[in-house]
Amino acid sequence: MSASTDADRTLSTLLACPLDRSDLESDGSGWRCRNGGHSFGRGDHGYLELARPGSPVLTIESTSSECAHIQESGGERVYREYLADWLRGPRGGTGLTVLDAGSGTGTAVAEARRDGHCAVGLDMSAVAAYWRAAGRPADQFVVGSVTEMPFADDAFDVAWTLGVMEHVGTTTGHLTLASDWRQQRAEFARELLRVVRPGGRILMACPNKSFPLDIQHGPTDEQTQAPLRARIFDRFGVNVHQVWGSYHLPSYRDVDRWFGRERVRPLPLASYFGFSALERPGVPQPAARAARWWVESMPPALRRTGLNPYVLVEIVV
Ligand SMILES: C[S@@+](CC[C@H](N)C(=O)[O-])C[C@H]1O[C@@H](n2cnc3c(N)ncnc32)[C@H](O)[C@@H]1O
Ligand SMILES: [Zn+2]
Repeated sequence: MSASTDADRTLSTLLACPLDRSDLESDGSGWRCRNGGHSFGRGDHGYLELARPGSPVLTIESTSSECAHIQESGGERVYREYLADWLRGPRGGTGLTVLDAGSGTGTAVAEARRDGHCAVGLDMSAVAAYWRAAGRPADQFVVGSVTEMPFADDAFDVAWTLGVMEHVGTTTGHLTLASDWRQQRAEFARELLRVVRPGGRILMACPNKSFPLDIQHGPTDEQTQAPLRARIFDRFGVNVHQVWGSYHLPSYRDVDRWFGRERVRPLPLASYFGFSALERPGVPQPAARAARWWVESMPPALRRTGLNPYVLVEIVV
């Protein structure tokens, strides 16, 4: 365990004990909270692990190297084509304090840093190996749970969480729901509202449960394994899924319930998507063109409905 450095001290202004939210102090060999005497250290790859002992975020194998590779290229594009403008936009600014909740390999954090924002990534310990391999600085990435965040109240100007909510409350970090998945998601939303300052903004994105096609998640977990669905996904890259009952994807209704409908602003999807998934062999190109046209020209009045393939919302805190 290393002693405190300048970089640690900058990060430490944002941190709080994930268990009781008191200040964290470096005690030379690790980190200790002021109230409860909870102590924390660094994992094998050198990143702070600020999670409850035994937390699934310390043990779940959430990321494969294939997944990491997609995140690397996708993260850079989504930052350059979307997030950079969202940060700068009408309600944005420069030099913002930014949380990427469920950052994956951390490309978007690195890009935001390049633009002069103070960005921090939070994710499970399984991705720390990828942070290390990509040379991500240990003062910009923290291991912890999005449902019990190791950050102080109002620490951030903005937060984004992209492709994360649909995995929270699952047993493996993928699709199979744990018994308390609803509570975990409500906690995640509460945590976002807590760590972003009043007047700040949250951007959340994931496939829309109410739309029956998902091009990002195949029917992979045992619970959802169905030979026909798996064949359709392999052939066309599209998962035809249920739009009712317990299913891992969130809907606009869920988002309105978690954050309060008055705070939630559904956003246009244009420029958020790269459409590279539709370019793979086997996807009929007329269908791909139709999908692209729909995503780019969907009337605003339909954004909260089952005709919208994606949940993309800004939440004003
Ligand atoms: C599909 S990846 C998306 C990564 C990145 N946001 C992107 O868009 O490329 C979902 C990420 O959420 C993380 N995640 C899921 N549940 C989490 C939790 N409870 N706490 C922290 N991270 C979590 C996973 O480890 C994974 O890195
Ligand atoms: Zn504590």
